[in-house]
Amino acid sequence: MIRIEHLKKEYSDVTPLKDVSTEIRDGDVISVIGPSGTGKSTFIRCINLLEKPTDGRIFIDDMEITAPGCNIEKVRRKVGMVFQSFNLFPHITVIENIMLAPMDLAGKSKQEAYDEGMELLRLVGLSEKALSYPEELSGGQKQRIAIARTLAMDPEIILMDEPTSALDPTMVGEVQEVIRKLSKTVKTMMIVTHEMNFAKAISNRVFYMDEGGILESGTPEEIFDHPENPKTRRFVQQLKALEIDIESRDYDFPGTQGRIEAYCIKNQVSRRLTKHVQLTFEELIQQNLVKILEYPGIHICIEISDRDGAMVFSADYNGPRYDILSECDPLSLAVLKSAVSKEEYFFDGTKEYANRISMEIKP
Ligand SMILES: Nc1ncnc2c1ncn2[C@@H]1O[C@H](COP(=O)(O)OP(=O)(O)OP(=O)(O)O)[C@@H](O)[C@H]1O
Ligand SMILES: [Mg+2]
Repeated sequence: MIRIEHLKKEYSDVTPLKDVSTEIRDGDVISVIGPSGTGKSTFIRCINLLEKPTDGRIFIDDMEITAPGCNIEKVRRKVGMVFQSFNLFPHITVIENIMLAPMDLAGKSKQEAYDEGMELLRLVGLSEKALSYPEELSGGQKQRIAIARTLAMDPEIILMDEPTSALDPTMVGEVQEVIRKLSKTVKTMMIVTHEMNFAKAISNRVFYMDEGGILESGTPEEIFDHPENPKTRRFVQQLKALEIDIESRDYDFPGTQGRIEAYCIKNQVSRRLTKHVQLTFEELIQQNLVKILEYPGIHICIEISDRDGAMVFSADYNGPRYDILSECDPLSLAVLKSAVSKEEYFFDGTKEYANRISMEIKP
């Protein structure tokens, strides 16, 4: 069990952790979520003393790791960490990476370290890569090796700081699968993640961090489906806005349509709405603004409202006053209006992108 009492971490200009107290029970799988900069990384880095807390106490079972003179090496054996960037040793093989700490720090024999290492490689599905070097592996494979290496020390708790965020999207699944498998064993884990569905699927507890600490904690159902704090609610229900910047007539039009489509799929937007938003992009941006503006500077924001699922498309653009709603050709406007409603145009000459148009996408 880990007990955290009044943990505080202060940097010269911010105090991400003001006063955090909580308990982590054996077998807990805790997802740590929250907006950027709210101290999630700082929090878990304090638990294995990668950061020195400014104040407060942390106990692992009965050992106070924040006590003066506490043996950091001993702490690191109890608290395993998986980093975003894998941190494998490049000059030795996969199996040697895994055997190293058990032999050097835990005093295991070479045979023991090898046998256990191979067992762990099987667990993460990579036994055939035992003799490869890290550079011969994909990102997803490297991260699975890093997880196996952490497991090799049989830590009391495994901390992971966004373990899949440095990966190519095609590799996220294989790493999540390994973590999901681990979460079913009795391993205690704490994982900082931005992937809400993943958090929901693997954890028995969720910490929402904000305002200098754990603002709300509970089961995944409590936090994701019935959050009490308005900030938690806004965070978990918020669907991210897609922002697109266009700075040249030669921008990648098909690629941008692809991004819009991917964003819609990710946010479970209906086919019809997706078609309308793509049509809006084509008609408003590609057929009009990009052609009219001599040096296009366009900032587009596509947002899904968390209240009613309505989708809002807005564009800020440079150039002289140009109200597309009254100045573009009628046919083009008719096409646009088949996909949008509630169009509004606004001009503010003090801004670099002085024109602004926003509209709701028709469902
Ligand atoms: N070594 C440091 N020195 C000074 N300030 C720091 C240091 N590390 C983090 N901070 C600051 O502390 C705050 C919390 O940072 P932290 O990295 O813990 O946030 P986070 O919740 O993990 O964010 P993200 O989701 O972006 O990873 C931020 O304002 C950050 O700039
Ligand atoms: Mg972080």
